[in-house]
This record gives sequence, structure tokens and C-alpha cells, in this order.
Amino acid sequence: MELIRWINSIANFLLVISCFTHLSMTLGVVPYNQGQSSYFLVPHNKARAQVGLQLLTWNMTLEAYAHGYAYHRVGDCDLRHSEGPFGENLAEGYGDEFTATDAVNLWIGEKQYYEYESNSCVGDECRHYTQVVWRDSIHIGCAKLKCHNVIVLFIMPSLANLSLALDIDFLIPHNEARAEVGVQPLQWNKTLVDYATGYAYQRMGDCSLQHSEGPFGENLAIGYGDQLTEADVVAMWVGEKQYYDYESNSCFGDECLHYTQVVWRDTVHVGCAKVECYNDGWFAICNYNPPGNYEDQRPY
Ligand SMILES: *[C@@H]1O[C@H](CO)[C@@H](O)[C@H](O)[C@H]1NC(C)=O
Ligand SMILES: *[C@@H]1O[C@H](CO)[C@@H](O)[C@H](O)[C@H]1NC(C)=O
Ligand SMILES: *[C@@H]1O[C@H](CO)[C@@H](O)[C@H](O)[C@H]1NC(C)=O
Repeated sequence: MELIRWINSIANFLLVISCFTHLSMTLGVVPYNQGQSSYFLVPHNKARAQVGLQLLTWNMTLEAYAHGYAYHRVGDCDLRHSEGPFGENLAEGYGDEFTATDAVNLWIGEKQYYEYESNSCVGDECRHYTQVVWRDSIHIGCAKLKCHNVIVLFIMPSLANLSLALDIDFLIPHNEARAEVGVQPLQWNKTLVDYATGYAYQRMGDCSLQHSEGPFGENLAIGYGDQLTEADVVAMWVGEKQYYDYESNSCFGDECLHYTQVVWRDTVHVGCAKVECYNDGWFAICNYNPPGNYEDQRPY
């Protein structure tokens, strides 16, 4: 029974993986719409200040999520929600003149329909406004893209729980593989989780195995099927162990650089993320620092 389930689950997956040989260093993540953030942020914070709330801070992970979803909607420019873990306001405008500030002002314009006493909307929609001034929201990230008209997405956490990183499930199989060759365990790291999550959001639209080309070591995997588990992902990478020849420090018979990154001695931190793509695939990513796979060095 267990065996049959296992075989089925393998058959349901078409797993593809990709790793990154790291030779050059670049800095940071480049914002997509650098310069636009204040056009979104300032009117939000004005509306919040008016009702005495703390200001929102701009967040790259949310910006990446917003951008990834906006990109997904460019084809139809449909005002449909992403149904992700964050609060979300959408707007659509026509013509070249529709700015980020215009979009936010549409939402804030609903203030007149919010009745505080009854905590409800009277006369018209007001829930874009209430998300703008939601007390517990802290972070915001937005994107604006042009379709046949213009779509704006604006995202921030509401009450939804963020269950993005299943740290133990990614971390334990990494550290088991490392223990087998006598290297120190990796530590789970939030900076790398944020980076991995931000990039995973960017790939939700195409689920493509393209590297982020950031400053960290990086293993990628995609899968199709009911679920792609964290264990499936790491097992794929560690399964390349058989192709790594220590004597010659090279791969024989097949790819092995995902494995060598997993067990790279000098790597200390890891952070991973997994998202479901809009095409029903799964995209998984782990980032490593310091990065591994330097050509003239052995992993352990
Ligand atoms: C960005 O927002 C996400 C979701 O709220 C949060 O988990 C992450 O820590 C934030 N990043 C920064 C740098 O504040
Ligand atoms: C968030 O998750 C925690 C732990 O799983 C749970 O106790 C809490 O009720 C959740 N909060 C919301 C708003 O869903
Ligand atoms: C997380 O990793 C980053 C990049 O390697 C590093 O700069 C930072 O100090 C780490 N954070 C912790 C708490 O170890």
C-alpha cells in the first residue's frame, strides 16, 4: 500500500532541477519598479496618518509577489485576486495617465462609505479603504504593469497567516546529507528565506527553471503533480551523490552540482521557499551562503 502510493507519487511528478555554479558576486535584489514605490507608499501613509496609525514600510518580498501576479494578469488584465496569503487591493485604469497615486486614491476615496460605528460599508464598496488603513498591516509591496490598459496591484499582509517556509522539512535532509560526509550542519536563515521567497514569487507566472543570478548559491526544482514536498525536492538533489566522483572532483554519468552545493563545507546558511505556480506546477528554491560550487575546490 505504502509502496504503491510512493510509486504513484513518483509517477505524478515530472521533476526538473537546476543548480547554479557560482563564480561571480553581485549585490542585492534590484527592485522592478524602482522609483515607483513612493507613489504607492506616500498616499497610503497619508491616509493612515489621518486616522492615527503607524506607517507602512516598503517590502521587497511583497513587491516581488505583486509583480509576479501582475505579470500573470498582463494577458487578460482581469481584476481577479491572486488568492495568496496577503491582503490585496487591485485597480485598473485606462490610458497612459493612470498613475500609482491615482490607483491608491481610488481606494482611499472609499473612505466616505466606511461607517465606523457599524463597521460596515454604506452606499458603496469600502474594503479597499479599510485594507489601506488596517491597523495590523505593517508591510506593503506593489506593482503596476501595462496590459491593454493598466493594472495595479497592491499587496500587504492582513490577518492571513504566512506559512511559506517549512524550515524543518527542507533543513533536515540537507543536514543528513552533510552529516554523511562529515560537514557541519547548515543553519536556517531568514534573510535567505526572504530572498528565496521573493524570487519564487517572481517565477510563479512561468514556473521556469531560471536562476535569480543573485549573490547566493542556488538550487532550483520544479515539479508537476498533486504536491511537491520539501523532502522530494531535497531527495532529488541528494540523489545526485552517486554521480559525484571525489577523486577527480567531477560529475560522472549525470548532473551532480546540486548535491555538491548541499554538502559544500564552507556553506553556513540556507533558506528555501516553495510556491505553486499559476500553471499548476510547483517551484522550489534553496539559497546558500557562502555559496558553493567553486570550480577548483572540493565540497568536503
Ligand atoms: C517582508 O514581508 C514579509 C511578509 O510580511 C515578511 O515575512 C518579511 O519579513 C518582510 N521583510 C522585511 C525585510 O521586512
Ligand atoms: C495562524 O496560525 C496559528 C498557528 O498555526 C493559529 O493558532 C492562528 O489561529 C492563525 N491565525 C489566523 C488569523 O489564521
Ligand atoms: C543570514 O544570512 C545572511 C547572508 O549569509 C547573513 O548576512 C546574516 O548574518 C545571517 N543571519 C543570521 C541571523 O545568522
